[in-house]
Amino acid sequence: MSHPVAEERPAVHGDALNGLRAAIAEAAQPEAAAQRVVELLHDRFGHYDWVGIYWVEDTDLVLGPWIGPEATEHTRIPIGTGVCGAAAASGQTEIVPDVDADPRYLACFASTRSEIVVPIFDGGEVIGEIDVDGSDLAAFDEMDARFLEEVAALIAPLRPRS
Ligand code: SME
Repeated sequence: MSHPVAEERPAVHGDALNGLRAAIAEAAQPEAAAQRVVELLHDRFGHYDWVGIYWVEDTDLVLGPWIGPEATEHTRIPIGTGVCGAAAASGQTEIVPDVDADPRYLACFASTRSEIVVPIFDGGEVIGEIDVDGSDLAAFDEMDARFLEEVAALIAPLRPRS
């Protein structure tokens, strides 16, 4: 029997996961580890123009570490609002190939053309998400989704404790 997911994973994703595991293990605190994660993702993947982690706080998503050319004004997003809020509400990865064609989209950057949002789970509960913006149309595919879902599992233990 073949195992398509493992066999089809590009080497670049396996390498990145190893790099992320090492960075998380070496970081002094969870906040520093989460910051390294967004930096590594941004550095390794040219189409990841802006990378951020939002953490769930009550009924909102609150921006944690991020890296990219500009800060976003959307530092707190109600669950259910925007593409980010939709992914948090459903627990489903959202791939938006053309943000201008998606009425849910909350604009952050003039350069953004596409977006992927991947929930982070603890048990069955959504505790946060990874948000990546791209400046090309349809920058993200199912391989990005499967990869970022593995990244999400790695960073779930890094959630800040309130
Ligand atoms: N575009 C997102 C908002 C977050 S910014 O992209 C950083 C959305 O529609 O929810």
